[in-house]
Amino acid sequence: MQPDTPHATFDGLDLRALAERLGTPLYVYSASAMRAQIASLQSALGGMNALICFAVKANPNRGVLSLMNAQGVGADIVSVGELRRALQAGIPAERIVFSGVGKTDAEMTEALDAGILRFNVESHDELVALQCAALERGVLARASVRINPDVDAFTPAKISTGKAENKFGVSIHEARRWFSARHELDHVELDGLHVHIGSQILELGPFREAFQRVAAFWKELTASGHPIASIDVGGGLGVCYREGHDQPVHAADYVAVVREALAGFEGQLLFEPGRYLVGEAGVLLTRVIRVKHGDERQFLVLDAAMNDLARPSLYDAWHDIVPVTGEVRPMTSYDIVGPVCETGDTFARARTLPACSSGDLLMIRTAGAYGASMASTYNSRPLAAEVLVDAGRYAVVRQRQRFEDMVAGETAAHHWETA
Ligand SMILES: Cc1ncc(COP(=O)(O)O)c(C=O)c1O
Repeated sequence: MQPDTPHATFDGLDLRALAERLGTPLYVYSASAMRAQIASLQSALGGMNALICFAVKANPNRGVLSLMNAQGVGADIVSVGELRRALQAGIPAERIVFSGVGKTDAEMTEALDAGILRFNVESHDELVALQCAALERGVLARASVRINPDVDAFTPAKISTGKAENKFGVSIHEARRWFSARHELDHVELDGLHVHIGSQILELGPFREAFQRVAAFWKELTASGHPIASIDVGGGLGVCYREGHDQPVHAADYVAVVREALAGFEGQLLFEPGRYLVGEAGVLLTRVIRVKHGDERQFLVLDAAMNDLARPSLYDAWHDIVPVTGEVRPMTSYDIVGPVCETGDTFARARTLPACSSGDLLMIRTAGAYGASMASTYNSRPLAAEVLVDAGRYAVVRQRQRFEDMVAGETAAHHWETA
């Protein structure tokens, strides 16, 4: 769901009034839009033994995680920080899966103590470390092998994860050896497969190819006496960043591919969408600080920057940017930039917008995923506030960071010690 500009309401709330009250830059998330995305996937999954585990990295705000929990959604975590956030938001441990190539011993132990559903294991070294952690705790860790299916998802290189050259998962060849030797690890129940090939995928083909490879492996394992209780198909569903250009696949079509590839599988299916559930449900509100007329270009300098929304500077990602006003003005071409001292702090080049002046309110669309979650305080800019909007009402789910909080923990070097 996209906000209904130019009328400037978002999930029933007046964005101009909100910006006036809370200031900018401001992340605004629509609870209704998130619920609609969850419902679309849940209804496509009807009749299947399936659990949706929201990829917390996409938007770890506890207000968002509580909404996920209220809809029966679990969590896919990649750190203990995400584990704690998910648990604090009320998501039960038995709905939490733990992915990631660099889980530390301490993180695995904490997740075992919490009693999470399963670990998605990415290397043999990690498998052995998990065995040791589980042995020490006297528990059995449930684990899936993350398969690297060597499939090109045709996404930007920095968000591709399913090619052999990427750091994620192991080859089917290696996974086969793990299963053959699985009885050597008596504190790990290795009975699952996991695959995640990348993010912002707008075609079904790569999913189909990856799931078919996983399906063939599941059948081979079953035939050789290694029953598989869980197949995790990861996340990756794309969203619309550029209206009229990006055409996301429908949840029902995506699930049809899963059903077809994994037909006959009777265990639990896990889904780890991140972007799909929250991306389009969020916008970043920002004001024009000034219009700068350069010799060659006109610049709109915003009060949001690459520290608030890193995707354009990190991946050259496109975000639609629109004024929050109904006024008709002549169209003008701008380079839209933030105030950070980096040329890369650019949201868009040669973008045509109705003419702007300082103080105008703009919104950067599709900012609900990998927006606030990737924010930093670079240039000593405090983290933006975040607001959840639900049918005309709003709740601040993250206060704007105060300067005092930003520098908390820093001191001058008064005490020098030796290690
Ligand atoms: C293991 C895993 N699962 C799920 C996701 C979520 O991906 P997306 O937000 O594209 O759905 C990611 C993202 O990087 C991931 O690494």
